[in-house]
Amino acid sequence: MTDVDLDAEEYEKNREAGEILAQVRNEAADRVEVGVSHLEVAEWAEDRIRELGGEPAFPVNISIDEEAAHATPGVDDATTFGEDMVNLDIGVHVDGWLADTAVTVDLSGNAELAEASEAALNAALDVVEAGVETGEIGAVIEETIDGYGFNPVVNLTGHGLGHWQQHTPPNIPNRAVDQSIELEVGDVVAIEPFATDGGGKVREGSEEEIFALESEGSVRNRAARQALNQVTEEFKTLPFATRWLDVRRAEMALRRLKQGDILHGYPVLKEEAGCLVSQKEHTIIVTENGCQVTTRL
Ligand code: CO
Repeated sequence: MTDVDLDAEEYEKNREAGEILAQVRNEAADRVEVGVSHLEVAEWAEDRIRELGGEPAFPVNISIDEEAAHATPGVDDATTFGEDMVNLDIGVHVDGWLADTAVTVDLSGNAELAEASEAALNAALDVVEAGVETGEIGAVIEETIDGYGFNPVVNLTGHGLGHWQQHTPPNIPNRAVDQSIELEVGDVVAIEPFATDGGGKVREGSEEEIFALESEGSVRNRAARQALNQVTEEFKTLPFATRWLDVRRAEMALRRLKQGDILHGYPVLKEEAGCLVSQKEHTIIVTENGCQVTTRL
């Protein structure tokens, strides 16, 4: 084994981010009720993260029913929760060291589907230790979700978490794949099974509210320049929402920055209409004989 000091400052910050996040996830989940607005829950959670000493690592994702990921309320979004399957995916960073977690709040009367992704995550965490192959984790996830009579979403995966980077290698598949990548002591990874009563593959929708810096560049337009300054100073390479920008005409600014290939967007990812998707996610630090779950209280 390589020499990894799990007490090093970076891991302390990973754990601190995880502790803040675990609390905010639970409190935010309690606020999800029929009639409450998405925007209210998202902004409440993002403010709460700051109050507890962290920063949101990405906009609070609130994905409904067939949506699996990347949905977040727009600036004046008045959408409220109905009898929905609600996935909350939240991230925190402390000085760029990250934690990522998700939970399904089922208001739709399909508790079994929510249970399937939770059981899959627990089963995955049971097999994690230094030396485990990522494909084996995927196999356990697939088998557990199969056991409930549902499908895993196979084109979404868990991922490594780097400094100021929300998605780094290795990916953690949600099905059995021949992938001889082994986890190592000190790896910080997010494992996130998605279960669905649909076919198990998500597609990109047309809605886009989340963006991130793609490459350096310059723009002439004043609003676009202001937006770019805020992004590079505040969010760096982490994802942000339109509603986080302090510039007027933010949507126009974002369009310009996308056209210049300076930003890329994250379209909402969804199953077929009429299907439901559940999700459960924790961030872990891999140890010799298991893992530390940073996002569990
Ligand atoms: Co994640």
